[in-house]
Amino acid sequence: MSSKLWGGRFAATNEEWVDSFGASISFDQQLVAEDIQGSLAHVSMLGATGILPPDDVALIKSGLTTLAQRARAGELTYREANEDIHLNIEQLLHDEIGPVAGKLHTGRSRNDQVATDLHLYLKKEVIHATDLLTKLQAVIVQLATDHVYTVMPGYTHLQRAQPISFAHHLLAYFWMLERDKERFRDSLKRVDLSPLGASALAGTTFPIDRHLSADLLGFSKPYANSLDAVSDRDFAVEYLSNASLVMMHLSRLCEELIVWSTDEFNFIELSDTFATGSSIMPQKKNPDMAELIRGKTGRVYGDLVGLLTVLKGIPLAYNKDMQEDKEGVFDTAHTLAGSLTIMAGMLESMTVNVDHLAETTTKDFSNATELADYLAAKQVPFRQAHEIVGKLVLQCIQAQHYLADLTLAQLQAAHPLFEADIYTVLQPQTAVARRNSFGGTGFEQVLQQLEQAKDAL
Ligand code: ARG
Repeated sequence: MSSKLWGGRFAATNEEWVDSFGASISFDQQLVAEDIQGSLAHVSMLGATGILPPDDVALIKSGLTTLAQRARAGELTYREANEDIHLNIEQLLHDEIGPVAGKLHTGRSRNDQVATDLHLYLKKEVIHATDLLTKLQAVIVQLATDHVYTVMPGYTHLQRAQPISFAHHLLAYFWMLERDKERFRDSLKRVDLSPLGASALAGTTFPIDRHLSADLLGFSKPYANSLDAVSDRDFAVEYLSNASLVMMHLSRLCEELIVWSTDEFNFIELSDTFATGSSIMPQKKNPDMAELIRGKTGRVYGDLVGLLTVLKGIPLAYNKDMQEDKEGVFDTAHTLAGSLTIMAGMLESMTVNVDHLAETTTKDFSNATELADYLAAKQVPFRQAHEIVGKLVLQCIQAQHYLADLTLAQLQAAHPLFEADIYTVLQPQTAVARRNSFGGTGFEQVLQQLEQAKDAL
């Protein structure tokens, strides 16, 4: 049983086990820096508006500054009986400077306080995410630069489709991450708002200056509506949604790395640092980190759906349900940062089996479109060309060889417009080089794309 900072109205004290269920201190202590930052801005504003006398403001500020230092040094001890980070800090401030600490909460509530903390936290995390995305993109650009002329099979339906430049494949991920970064950056407009001074829900009778507190916290402006300010968690949903998209992209790339590192594909080898062995099978080298990123995508989606579900039924304004917003957000921030960092390391250190990649496209039918395009360029209707080449593919399969093994006589029997230059056209390198339409895999296009990518970095 414990006495409460809000205990005046209560005749009975709470039971510890009930307190424990309601407490958030075990996780919201992660917001200690933001909480103190918010309080410093609030008390400065209370001083500037003359709501509190300068001496009290100075004392509260020095107490908060001491607490911030002690927090950084890991010296603060929190009590579950004090429920959350806000009440714990207020209690610790009281221990530090005495009853003047009680003036800090003038004209504010924990409802605008917690929302302010979360805005500060997410503003920092959104910027952190964009930085990590840029680092990963830089690794992709470097790898792509090294592999413009590395030819690999491009797939649709995981069936060999057409030969492509390995750089082109990698750069596809660059642009996904670029959009992810744009989304994060755009979301800053909505993260960069100050709820502080909305108070419990309706504003306050004190002549506070919300614009000043917003300025002091580096926010672009205060929320226009106090009810919205304390009940809005859209910005957190948006963060989780943006993070989910990043994870989905990373997960797709992981799936490719996992497949590519099998004996069956053998396109790449992950470095030992990012692989693990088996406790029983001595030959194994498992792509655990890639699998783990793919798996962790599920928990980030879970965090997103969790918060959306928490919010869907709650009336205005603050409800205790909203305390459930934080763990998912922290979990996602942690997972996202880890996944982006691991992915960069994994790509940077992997070996690309260039020779094997080059060989693959000489032993498949991924050059079939070249034959059809060849005829179509000579004004054979594409549909007809497609049919002719389809039959040639079947002929090759039956004879157990590939299109380039057909003699000119065989090709001309299929269509008289085939000439000797067809054999150059059939080579994978030529097939890639000739796909020179804007944004295509043609080497010239890939080189231009690389320039665009570098400019975007
Ligand atoms: N621990 C609470 C949360 O995380 C802080 C706000 C509580 N406000 C209240 N009136 N109970 O949401």
